[in-house]
Amino acid sequence: MRIDILTIFPQMFPPVMGEGMIRIAQENGLVEIKYHDLRDYTTDKHRSVDDRPFGGGPGMVMMCGPIFRAVEAIEAQSPVPARRVLLTPQGQALKQALVREIAKEQRLLLICGRYEGFDERIRIGLEPLEISIGDYVLSGGEIPAMVVVDAVVRLIPGVTGHPDSPVKESFSEERLLEYPQYTRPVEFRGMPVPEILRSGDHAKIAEWQKEQAKIRTARRRPDLLS
Ligand code: ADE
Repeated sequence: MRIDILTIFPQMFPPVMGEGMIRIAQENGLVEIKYHDLRDYTTDKHRSVDDRPFGGGPGMVMMCGPIFRAVEAIEAQSPVPARRVLLTPQGQALKQALVREIAKEQRLLLICGRYEGFDERIRIGLEPLEISIGDYVLSGGEIPAMVVVDAVVRLIPGVTGHPDSPVKESFSEERLLEYPQYTRPVEFRGMPVPEILRSGDHAKIAEWQKEQAKIRTARRRPDLLS
C-alpha cells in the first residue's frame, strides 16, 4: 500500500510515522508513506493556501488551486489510482468497519485541511471520501490523518505478528469489547489473577473470556449490543 499525505505541516508526521508498528511496516516494505507540502503547489509569493469566504463570515477557507494542483501532481507519481480522503469534522465517522474498507485500497491520498474548511468545489471536483475521527473539532486534519494511518496500517497483512491479533480484539466483527487480560505476576498488590485463567482448561477459559467480554460491553458500551 502507498499512502500520500497532503498537508501544510509535513514535519508533523515523521516523528509519529517513525515509531512502532508504522515504522516496522515501512521498513518491511508493506507500506510506503509520503508527505507533500501543500505550499509547494501555491503560485503567489506568500505561498497562500487559504482566502476569505465569499459572502463574509469568520475564518478562512482552503482554496481550490493548490489542492487540485497537488492532487494531480501526486497522483501522477504512480499509475495506481488513489482513493482520495478528506479529513473533516463533517465526514463519515471513522469506525473499524470503515478502517477495514479503506485498508483494502492499494493507494490512499489523505488531504489535511486547516482553517474553517474547504472550498466546496474541492468536494465537487475531487469527490473524496470524507472522514471524521469524532464529534469534536480539531485545529486541522493532521492528527486525524495520523489516526487513519495507524488504524489502517495495522490491518495490512503481515504487519502484525500474530495473524489473529487484529481480528480477535475490540470492535472486531463480533462487536464486543476485549475481555480482561492478565500477565505475571500471579498476584500484584493483593490483586490475584482469576483462578480459571491458570487452570489450563482451554474450553472453560474461552467461555469465561466470552462472558467477561459481554459483561464489559454491557457496562461500557451497551449501544454495541443493541
Ligand atoms: N479536522 C478537524 N476536526 C476533525 C475531526 N474531528 N475529524 C477529522 N478531521 C478533522
